[in-house]
Amino acid sequence: MGRALSVLFVSAEVYPFAKTGGLADVSYGLVMALRELGVDVRVMLPKYGCVSERKNHIHEIKRLRAIEIPVGERVEIATIKSSTLQNPRTRAQVYVTTNYPYFDNRKGLYADPHTGVPYADNDERFIFFCRSVVEMCHFLRWFPDVIHCNDWQTGLVLAYVRTLYPHEFRKTRLVFTIHNCAEQGIFPEESLPKTGLPAEAYERLLHRGQVNFLKAALEFSECVTTVSPTYARELLGGEVECNGIEEVLRERHASSFVGILNGVDTNVWNPRTDSYIPYRYGVEDLSPKQRNKQALLQRFELRYDPAVPVIGMITRLHPVKGIDLFLEVAPKLLSEENVQIVFLGDGLPEYRTALQKLHKQFPRRFGLHLGFDEALAHLIEAGADMFLMPSRQEPCGQNQMYSMLYGTVPIVRATGGLRDTVEDFNPETGTGTGIVFQPYTGEALLEAIRRALALYRQPELWLQLVRNGMQKEFSWRAAASRYVELYQALVKRKEQLSAVLERL
Ligand code: GLC
Repeated sequence: MGRALSVLFVSAEVYPFAKTGGLADVSYGLVMALRELGVDVRVMLPKYGCVSERKNHIHEIKRLRAIEIPVGERVEIATIKSSTLQNPRTRAQVYVTTNYPYFDNRKGLYADPHTGVPYADNDERFIFFCRSVVEMCHFLRWFPDVIHCNDWQTGLVLAYVRTLYPHEFRKTRLVFTIHNCAEQGIFPEESLPKTGLPAEAYERLLHRGQVNFLKAALEFSECVTTVSPTYARELLGGEVECNGIEEVLRERHASSFVGILNGVDTNVWNPRTDSYIPYRYGVEDLSPKQRNKQALLQRFELRYDPAVPVIGMITRLHPVKGIDLFLEVAPKLLSEENVQIVFLGDGLPEYRTALQKLHKQFPRRFGLHLGFDEALAHLIEAGADMFLMPSRQEPCGQNQMYSMLYGTVPIVRATGGLRDTVEDFNPETGTGTGIVFQPYTGEALLEAIRRALALYRQPELWLQLVRNGMQKEFSWRAAASRYVELYQALVKRKEQLSAVLERL
């Protein structure tokens, strides 16, 4: 191919700018891997109040100052600034949308960080952001081969591309990735006129009588991807229920939908080089991991005892992550077993309260940090012995992969990407990289944890299990090549898309 493929990658979270979960890591890792494959990929996200302009070297672009964006009857001003995303080998152009009332003025991405309550005007905030993406291309006269949007926050970009500037973007193909179907961007019907879309488009935004940004994305995109083959199958097969969105997906995208497993960016997640952790290590010598465990327990003000295993959890506090199941078994586990748990996460206020109660009940065994903290996340992966993901649904999951690479044994439910990445340990053959359980019940979870605790008491078997995980590879290169193949199939249209997707 002569000219490099041009892609605008739009995401509400991009590491290291803004992160609440795996989406941010994936946006960074995939974009860097695409750059390394020679794609002219640029990234766009909102500049929330927590994104430091100084630390991220964000600066103004003259041409993109003060773009007027209508939101309902009002006009809001978007100033688009520029920065770069980089790893030791490559870099990518980043655009950030700034606007004081919607983004700069808020510390949280989607919710108030103190209370966990979502901002009441999230419809307007992401209408504004999506429109700013399309206006930026229009002002720059840059119409990339592909616009690749991610999750509901970016869903309206696709609608604006096809309705506001259909001629300018006639050669641009639209890809949408579902990172989590459980979050859909649902707002009352009254939000429709705020979008400024033509009334003929309204129907395509509505789902079960409400505005649904995820539905809009499915309506306007040419190809939809998700982040693991199993989650793709579960969605199409009706095994996971997502407010009927799975039916829309089946109807519209039965032959233009594919699951591509996420990778891990080992520039950021590698225990040998990780600059967030105090003691670096590799598979040949695990003694620094013990020192990380000490540091971790100190951080949570818990007592260190090498004989007591530490279970880590890092999660968004959302029902699909299996928080209910965890809360159901935690009191029994903490009172009956010799184990400590450290928990990092944020989300729904009712879960925050329940976790605080648990902490009060077991102050010496249960360490809690409510919020997002990148350095602490790395320390948990490095210092814990086991890592728990009892998810009801898990499109891919990044932490189980980080855990394996850090010698921290994942205990996971066999769903979505967890099923695709963790193999249950078999003590007879010494194969497997974690502990996998199936039914979504407290009993099954408790049984899985007890199985892990029993293995921990058998150092040789445990070491085998740890080593198996540390030797796995989850590189982005393979996944990024699949995305490139997909983009090219869409742009060149030489072959039936469904045939290409089947190969992926
Ligand atoms: C969402 C999903 C998670 C996935 C991540 C990145 O956070 O819940 O399973 O790993 O997106 O794709």
